Amino acid sequence: MSTRSLFVAVFALSAALVLAQAPNLGKPASPADIAAWDLNILPDGTGLPAGSGTAADGARVYGTKCAGCHGPEGKGGTAAKLVGGEPVKNMSSEKTIAGFWPYSTTLFDYIRRAMPFQQPRSLSNEEVYSLTAYILSQNKLIGQSDAMNAQTLPKVKMPNRDGFIVRFPERTP
Ligand code: HEC
Repeated sequence: MSTRSLFVAVFALSAALVLAQAPNLGKPASPADIAAWDLNILPDGTGLPAGSGTAADGARVYGTKCAGCHGPEGKGGTAAKLVGGEPVKNMSSEKTIAGFWPYSTTLFDYIRRAMPFQQPRSLSNEEVYSLTAYILSQNKLIGQSDAMNAQTLPKVKMPNRDGFIVRFPERTP
């Protein structure tokens, strides 16, 4: 065997070994792994889980888990205000929940996915529904005793609901 063909053979063998092993990283995702990240809530409420909560329950959770950053009544602290705000007028307007967000269901999705900031995805669905109810009620978008759940939350119309150009109108509430 010539040096060249030996070189080619060794090269091919090592390439085959590398391919046989590669990438050899991680492990297959289990259904439970996927479910933990499969959290999307669509504007019409598709994906909302079972559970329910009112502003009174939400106020309690808010006081312990949210007020430290968002202020005692949601009016802002080191993090954004969750209560109040003017309707947006242009790109430089402050973008608040009441003044900017088009869908109430986004509030559930966002809180469940991202809050509290230092411990995301630690809240139960009941806590998220009640926090959603608390924030909507503090913004006077629902009554103080209205329960939020998969049926009622998508029916809450946000003030800026019609302020967006909707790409898929048939998928919105
Ligand atoms: C450690 C601080 C911290 C805590 C605690 C915290 N947040 Fe936040 N939150 C943030 C930060 C930072 C943002 C990003 C927006 C900003 O710049 O303030 C944010 C954003 C939000 C937003 C989006 C606001 C907007 O208009 O874009 C919501 C809603 C929200 N938080 C709800 C909550 C709720 C409910 C809790 C309690 C379960 C909570 N947060 C606890 C820091 C915190």
